[in-house]
Amino acid sequence: MQAQGLPLFVVDAGDLGWKSASIAPTLAGQQLEKFELQLQAYALGGIDGWTPGEGDLALGHERLQAAVQRHGTPALAANLRCEGEEIFPAGRVVERGGVRLGLVGLVEPTLLGAAGIGGCIAEPTLPAAKAAIDALGPVDAVVVLSHMSAAAEAELAPALGRPVLFVNGHERKSTPQAAALGSGSVRLASGSRGKELGFAEVHFQAGASGFQAEAGADDARKIERFTGRQQIARTKLDAAAPGSAEATQAQKQVDFYQAEIDAARKRLQAASTDQGPRHALSVQIVDLGKDVADHAATLSLVESAKTRIAAADAQAGPTAPASLGDSAWKGSVWGGSASCLSCHPTQHAQWASTPHASAWTRLVQVNRQSDQACFSCHVTGAFAEGAPATASAVPAELHAVGCEACHGPGAAHSADPAAGAIVRDPPVEVCQQCHDGKMDEGRFDLQTYRPRVLHGPAAEPAP
Ligand code: HEC
Ligand code: HEC
Ligand code: HEC
Ligand code: HEC
Repeated sequence: MQAQGLPLFVVDAGDLGWKSASIAPTLAGQQLEKFELQLQAYALGGIDGWTPGEGDLALGHERLQAAVQRHGTPALAANLRCEGEEIFPAGRVVERGGVRLGLVGLVEPTLLGAAGIGGCIAEPTLPAAKAAIDALGPVDAVVVLSHMSAAAEAELAPALGRPVLFVNGHERKSTPQAAALGSGSVRLASGSRGKELGFAEVHFQAGASGFQAEAGADDARKIERFTGRQQIARTKLDAAAPGSAEATQAQKQVDFYQAEIDAARKRLQAASTDQGPRHALSVQIVDLGKDVADHAATLSLVESAKTRIAAADAQAGPTAPASLGDSAWKGSVWGGSASCLSCHPTQHAQWASTPHASAWTRLVQVNRQSDQACFSCHVTGAFAEGAPATASAVPAELHAVGCEACHGPGAAHSADPAAGAIVRDPPVEVCQQCHDGKMDEGRFDLQTYRPRVLHGPAAEPAP
């Protein structure tokens, strides 16, 4: 992946701590622990700069500053003001292997709003960025650690007066190609949730300025695709009665595709008029899946963070109830899967052979049973009203994806099957609470998944 001998720089553009501008108090403690873990790991592996986003600031700027100080990672923020003060340097120069790289951190003001997040607001980006870049002195390339929307970047880039590599930490999509921003500037982005590593290799060319973008192909394909869809919407529009709801809907679609096509054309044009000798740039997104071996020292940091999280959870939340009977978990409405066994042995046997029955064990195997971000889909009842907020409050009977995760609370039905209502056929929305297309890596397909949970005579062999 990395050409031998090239100097390597590592950066991050924010939202390590949390994904959005507000966080529930019940989650903040654990997120802070995870945030510290990331800073520790970065300090261990070496990071050249990162910039906080609104998700990090949601943890509060004092906590943020304290964590940064504890772990010594270089946070950069040119336009951030917390209670009137600059809390991090605007930028820095890192020299390695004969390359001088200038790093500047920026946050989009609208993401923090006029009222601010965590005690901080962001000032207008252009003057702050210009001043920070000037202060870097002579460098081979400027990298903006950008916690901004793509639109705000596209507006800022041409105004900077010099080509810049934007590394985006706010848009959650990863871009396998460098996107042209005009005037030789490009955007790089590597997705969210730490699942991918973006790798950009720059080959400096004598006499060149700016960076070679590769985004043209994507936009050309997009224009072709959207022109086709717009044609279909036009046909619908022509067929609909003027003024009808169908006509309004179709007109909306036609306009939507037109706006997308115009934006793509503009980008293509920017890329094509963006001439002149450019530094060569190649981008690769590396999936940090199971085939990438864990780094032993980082792994041991992760293990000790998990242990701290488990200990804190046990201390903070209500102590683990011995059983449903004495739990606060709407104890009266839930029965637990074992309570269905005597009357539905066939269904119980089929269920017990599916991964649902071992969903809690799977979490325990990876020591994530106390993790606030994990337990809800690996237990029964977490999506019901009044469900406890912490994993340690879940009684053992409701560990795993039990009968009632699909059929709904069943205590009344068990007590009196004739009178107590129970859902016969859970709608797909129930599955999608957990098979949400994100945490399950998008594997869910009702056609193939539903037959594997059926337990009637027509049931297929267990998965
Ligand atoms: C005391 C016996 C008994 C217990 C305990 C019991 N059921 Fe039932 N269940 C029945 C009977 C009887 C029926 C209705 C006859 C039939 O369709 O099999 C039924 C029907 C159902 C149905 C189909 C409902 C329908 O509308 O067709 C579902 C689903 C169901 N039970 C789930 C559960 C679940 C989940 C549990 C445990 C929380 C449970 N049952 C516990 C006796 C019981
Ligand atoms: C409360 C959360 C939850 C609900 C509701 C839920 N599932 Fe699941 N499902 C899971 C989890 C968690 C796993 C993985 C368990 C494991 O491997 O430990 C899983 C696994 C599965 C699997 C096995 C996949 C594999 O890789 O082998 C199938 C099939 C499945 N679910 C189908 C369904 C269907 C169909 C529904 C709706 C009728 C549904 N699930 C509802 C959480 C849920
Ligand atoms: C939004 C619901 C949801 C949340 C939250 C969730 N999971 Fe899952 N998990 C699932 C579903 C659904 C599956 C089954 C996916 C499939 O096979 O289609 C699954 C499968 C798994 C598996 C078994 C399959 C595998 O990929 O190895 C493990 C282990 C797992 N989850 C761990 C976790 C951990 C750790 C967390 C917290 C970081 C977590 N889950 C949070 C829904 C969730
Ligand atoms: C992943 C979701 C899911 C889980 C978990 C689940 N079921 Fe079901 N169950 C279904 C679906 C889907 C049907 C089929 C409904 C239909 O076709 O009418 C069904 C049907 C039933 C029926 C009606 C008769 C039949 O077999 O079709 C009973 C009774 C039942 N389930 C009991 C249970 C019991 C008891 C458990 C736990 C031991 C359980 N279910 C766990 C999804 C689930």
